[in-house]
Amino acid sequence: MPQVTIEQIGKFAGENVQLEAWIHNIRRSGKLLFPMLRDGTGFLQAVVVKGSVSEEIFTICRSLTQETSVRLSGHVRAEERAPGGHEIEIEHLELVQEVPPDDPFPISPKEHGAEFLLDHRHLWLRSKRQYAVLRIRHEIIRAIRDFLDSNSFICVDTPILTPAACEGTTTLFQVPYFEEEVAYLGQSGQLYNEATAAAFNKTYCFGPTFRAEKSKTRRHLTEFWMVEPEMAYADLDDVMALAEKMIIAVVSQVLANRSTELALLDRDVSKLQMIKKPFPRISYDEAVAILQKKGSDIEWGDDFGATDETLISEEFEGPIMVHRFPSAIKAFYMQPDSVRPELALGVDVIGPEGSGELVGGGQRIHDYDLLLEKLREHDLPRDAFEWYLDLRKYGSVPHGGFGMGIERCVAWICGLKHVRETIAFPRMLNRMRP
Ligand code: 4AD
Ligand code: MG
Repeated sequence: MPQVTIEQIGKFAGENVQLEAWIHNIRRSGKLLFPMLRDGTGFLQAVVVKGSVSEEIFTICRSLTQETSVRLSGHVRAEERAPGGHEIEIEHLELVQEVPPDDPFPISPKEHGAEFLLDHRHLWLRSKRQYAVLRIRHEIIRAIRDFLDSNSFICVDTPILTPAACEGTTTLFQVPYFEEEVAYLGQSGQLYNEATAAAFNKTYCFGPTFRAEKSKTRRHLTEFWMVEPEMAYADLDDVMALAEKMIIAVVSQVLANRSTELALLDRDVSKLQMIKKPFPRISYDEAVAILQKKGSDIEWGDDFGATDETLISEEFEGPIMVHRFPSAIKAFYMQPDSVRPELALGVDVIGPEGSGELVGGGQRIHDYDLLLEKLREHDLPRDAFEWYLDLRKYGSVPHGGFGMGIERCVAWICGLKHVRETIAFPRMLNRMRP
């Protein structure tokens, strides 16, 4: 008898198979039992018929508790009414570990509060919704890698222990680094990407990112994952074109491979199906005008607040790209616009449906003297950036790239309000456990 997973079950209709699974829940109806099985690859309705199995097995099955682990065998058949289109009639079942009835699995099918669920995140991960979200997350990550790898990008990992800031010094986690030295947990691999792009032309890093931000919003984590592509010989338009192409590739791969999971989340996929080129490119000036018209009290020179991002996304159906922000509100490394040097050649991609900023990036300063001036303006220690300045000394070229936060992207594609469910073990201002 073949040993199969639920994901493969459709291929075994009409056959007898063995499964290793957990009891997701169980419905009892007289002579029939309907345990819902899960094995991490899917959910499968089982049926146990009194009289068709031994009295002993029927008794065991009748008292199955939620999350009890079981090995079983049975007959697979197509069943239109069953979720997934198949069911298995259990013929034999063996308990691997029984969850005691007097100490049941803490997450029952009834409603639980968000804090309770987060406290039990290690167990909450087994729920259908988390199953769907994290499988979609995996597909998003795979789509990003597929896209970059097939477009000549080389993955070059950047360090996590770093001596200096990239995105501003206020949000750094410090760790002691042997005698008298302090290291900071990386808040972006970008500066290192600029070195690797000069060596390999198109590169990316993909890893955990740390921000000691005291913001308690539905879009902020203190540890999140970011993919950061960087290109040599590239300008702002190239950066925007790449972000657009990558986002479209991600959405279409998720739609193609994760429709079951999107359906489990009741995601309105029509909103994803219409994501197409070109994304509107809106200057910061235009964005401020739109926001003011919509009643925001934003003034020229202000950064967007979360509500501004939501307001502006309401004006459009898909992601939009806001470019040319005032340099004053952006990082030191941003190339100034040649016509209006008070503007930085940066871009933020604002996701639809209130998902907020998905991507931040732009063109970097490639001129040595200008970069040195910006370091001074931002009070950054020159010696820590000597290596970064070197990149402007030896074959410097216009270059740029961006960072996309994986959790924001997952939240958008899954239609989740809060990023806390988009990562297995979220780290937030007030949460480091479990
Ligand atoms: O806009 P950010 O800060 O850009 C950078 O770090 C650039 N150095 C990237 C680059 O050009 N290589 O961050 C990029 C993205 C944001 O658009 C957002 O999606 C995500 O990272 N992000 C966060 N996600 C979750 N929690 C946080 N605290 C985040 N901060 C940024
Ligand atoms: Mg940003």
